[in-house]
Amino acid sequence: MERPIGVFDSGVGGLTVVKQLKKILPDERLVYFGDTARIPYGTKSKRLIRQFALEDALFLLQFDIKFLVVACNTASSGALPVLQERLEIPVVGVVEPGARAAAEKTRNKRIGVIGTSATIASSSYAKEIRKLMPEAEVLGQPCPLLVPLVEEGWLDGEVTVLTLKKYLKDLIEAGVDTIILGCTHYPLLEPTIRKIVGPQVALIDSGKETAKAVKRVLEEIKLVNRSSEKGKDLFFVSDSPEQFARIGSNFLGEALTNVERIDFDEFLIKNSSSPLLKNLEVLHED
Ligand code: DGL
Repeated sequence: MERPIGVFDSGVGGLTVVKQLKKILPDERLVYFGDTARIPYGTKSKRLIRQFALEDALFLLQFDIKFLVVACNTASSGALPVLQERLEIPVVGVVEPGARAAAEKTRNKRIGVIGTSATIASSSYAKEIRKLMPEAEVLGQPCPLLVPLVEEGWLDGEVTVLTLKKYLKDLIEAGVDTIILGCTHYPLLEPTIRKIVGPQVALIDSGKETAKAVKRVLEEIKLVNRSSEKGKDLFFVSDSPEQFARIGSNFLGEALTNVERIDFDEFLIKNSSSPLLKNLEVLHED
């Protein structure tokens, strides 16, 4: 059996990325970790997000993963360079692929980004877009209420429509022609967002773009699975597996049966001397 791809997220949202990975890379085995005990990451400081991301990666490394996908937009925004620096395997996040797709799609060079407060505060998407299109105007809008609404299953209806209209107002008024769905949860809101912004605005699903990028990189570095024996995908969480399976099936679009809870505190105590977690104090804010 070949080595799996590791995927982590702050919780259940990363399953939207898993859904895309399974579609585009059906022969790859995935090991997923959702840090449900510490979600949300989107309201945390950059320092804490970096520490959590390194700890999540350390957990996945036990499975001899060949590649790491940071499915969480907040963790990709705050921790991708430190993960790439400290890990010996390739690491791909969701920000660069989403930014690239938006830069390719826009015609008026005015791009909106919606995401958690931490993602928007980091300007991660704006920085990536400007590398490709320095003249682009990028408008960020934090949407902290959307994650709980989606986890509650409120994907349309009055409250969600009103909330979205309020969040999207400035972007629409600014005339953006492209909006990046810069959070794991937002693909579930895509039909409702579409109704509000109309058919002219392109909506970029970062998870979908990331799955394409992962495939491209795997092919480039010749790490595509060649074994006919795929093995089972594994799902681990740091809190209730029942809740993860229940909410997660909406995100994944299929039932989740094999979710296992791990004692993450115990794991971290046992692995506290790992070189990956050394000098965490240098991960201060930039
Ligand atoms: N997974 C996070 C993201 O994509 C959303 C949930 C959270 O705040 O942790 O930004």
